[in-house]
Amino acid sequence: MSYQVIARKWRPQSFEEVTGQEPITRTLHNALEHERLHHAYLFSGARGVGKTTTARLLAKALNCHKAQRPTPTPCRTDDPDACASCREISESRSIDVQEIDAASNTGVDNVRDAIIGSVAIAPARDRYKIFIIDEVHMLSTQAFNALLKTIEEPPPRVVFVMATTERHKVPETILSRSQQFEFRTIANAKILGRLRLIAEAEKISIPDDALREIARTGEGSMRDAQSAFDQVISFAGPKIKKKDVEMALGVASADILIRVINGIAEHKPAEALAVADDVVMRGHDLRSFCRDLLAHLRDLLVMKVAGSDELLESAICDRDELKRQAALFSESELVRFFHSLADTETKLSKAAHPRYQLEIGLVKLMEMRRLEPLGKLLERLSALEESLRTGKAPVQTKKPSPTSSGSQSHPGGRTTATSSGSASVGGSFTGTAAKPALEADPAAVVTPSSEPLEISSTPVTRLAVGSGSVVDSARNP
Ligand SMILES: Nc1ncnc2c1ncn2[C@@H]1O[C@H](COP(=O)(O)OP(=O)(O)OP(=O)(O)O)[C@@H](O)[C@H]1O
Ligand SMILES: [Mg+2]
Ligand SMILES: [Zn+2]
Repeated sequence: MSYQVIARKWRPQSFEEVTGQEPITRTLHNALEHERLHHAYLFSGARGVGKTTTARLLAKALNCHKAQRPTPTPCRTDDPDACASCREISESRSIDVQEIDAASNTGVDNVRDAIIGSVAIAPARDRYKIFIIDEVHMLSTQAFNALLKTIEEPPPRVVFVMATTERHKVPETILSRSQQFEFRTIANAKILGRLRLIAEAEKISIPDDALREIARTGEGSMRDAQSAFDQVISFAGPKIKKKDVEMALGVASADILIRVINGIAEHKPAEALAVADDVVMRGHDLRSFCRDLLAHLRDLLVMKVAGSDELLESAICDRDELKRQAALFSESELVRFFHSLADTETKLSKAAHPRYQLEIGLVKLMEMRRLEPLGKLLERLSALEESLRTGKAPVQTKKPSPTSSGSQSHPGGRTTATSSGSASVGGSFTGTAAKPALEADPAAVVTPSSEPLEISSTPVTRLAVGSGSVVDSARNP
């Protein structure tokens, strides 16, 4: 028997099997049950999320011979007693269901020939005449205009199902005459569930963490994830290990991502270089590595803020591990990491030496915990300014934070910062006119390349002899 790729072999055979699109399938199910049918549907959404599949299921449901009227449970293709209509629709050869690829039939003549010419002729055998128009946004303006009249007043027993990945390119006139369904990208956990089902049925042995890596490469597209699964099976055969997935797909494994997270938590910038080396050596794409890490940071934040796994996307590790990692950081820290890494990801696209860019980006990330948000520094500077102006020693309200390890407090409230690279200008001051801390504001984040390092390398004792503002003093010691 010839080999059939997973995506085709496992095309959902019922509305229930269409994963992750429950609101849509439920609506269609009910419409069919109560025969509240529209004559034009528009399915939009990303690639490989079930648009064509659902369009065919709808066509089957409308024309299935099993019942006297449309049924939400048409025949399955693997059912030996499947009716002729259902079987033919699966094989794209039903006389009353026409599939038109608008990408290759863009012109007005094609539309006239394929649709308008035959739309007035009654269905040859089945209940409905159905036109499935794929990639409908590709039609020319004239073709749309020709179609519009028909959609506006279609002959009885005609149903249009249009599908597109680019809904914004479909004219408003068509949209407003159609019932619209927006297909979602599918959560990784759901893709994982479906892949697991397929693996079991196909007798493929694969651990869950390896399957999770495959699900992740789909980036929300079931078809892409299934194609990746095919690729791994071709590479490794029916017994698959996690290593095989990484080698076959060139993806960064969860282990590497977790190493980065631990490197940040434990403040080990040297680990950044080792990770970058690993990523390069394994031939992974650096930007997609960054994107994986971004998705993971986002999930940590979701775990932290929502405390539940409903909104999780990336599925890099299981719930318990995610919880453990999320507990290592504060919300504002995670936001800062995210922004810093997003910046690295953007720069990577234009970098002359992407590897260096990644290295710097990762070191920066791992150094971040030591640096304080700008808000806090401003607060301290204004306290210093105030004390210089009034001649009064600033109020000492709290102990130096553990991050300001390079600073020592002296009696009298004056602080000396050593030049060891600490970002603190004296952890012990809180000004009377202190500004509110900006910690939650990602824009107010200090990055390792910006000022605080310079400020800290200037001994603060000099500030006392400066005349004007603190900044002036620092510039002209
Ligand atoms: N929601 C889903 N549930 C289960 N399988 C799915 C789903 N979406 C896609 N698939 C799998 O991916 C294959 C392709 O799906 P389908 O043709 O429906 O995608 P599409 O949304 O029309 O994509 P495109 O925009 O690229 O045409 C199906 O045969 C099926 O195996
Ligand atoms: Mg399609
Ligand atoms: Zn049938």
